[in-house]
Amino acid sequence: MPTEFKINARPVTVDVPDDTPLLWVIRDDLGYTGTKFGCGIGLCGACTVHVNGRATRSCITPVKDVANSVVTTIEGLAEKGHPLLETWVEAQTPQCGYCQPGQIMQAAAMLRDFPAPTDEQINQVMSGNLCRCMAYVRIREAIRMAAR
Ligand code: FES
Repeated sequence: MPTEFKINARPVTVDVPDDTPLLWVIRDDLGYTGTKFGCGIGLCGACTVHVNGRATRSCITPVKDVANSVVTTIEGLAEKGHPLLETWVEAQTPQCGYCQPGQIMQAAAMLRDFPAPTDEQINQVMSGNLCRCMAYVRIREAIRMAAR
């Protein structure tokens, strides 16, 4: 049965099996390739998007679960603009860059809930987003800069 939702402010209807992971719908059917595949089992955070404003792991979210929801990817965040996108550059955060869209989406959701997070809150919320280059210090610095 087709699933309708909004992605990056655009209404879409996808006709795929209900249990298709949202990640593959986003990348393969809708062409938003900024969202990355890392582990596929909800452990690394590379696939993080927003569903109704909440950070969500799209690799373990069946597309039927986002019916009539609002999904935002890194492309949608870039279209709207966000301070994190500037501080990420200022802090020279990325190394290989692969995990960065997921890191930014997780951080953006946190800053919506906690506009001035403590270091402890940052560490707690970001602890599930893994970076194989170990850029954690710069990731946290970029978040602190965006929160100022
Ligand atoms: Fe989804 Fe790792 S790819 S959490």
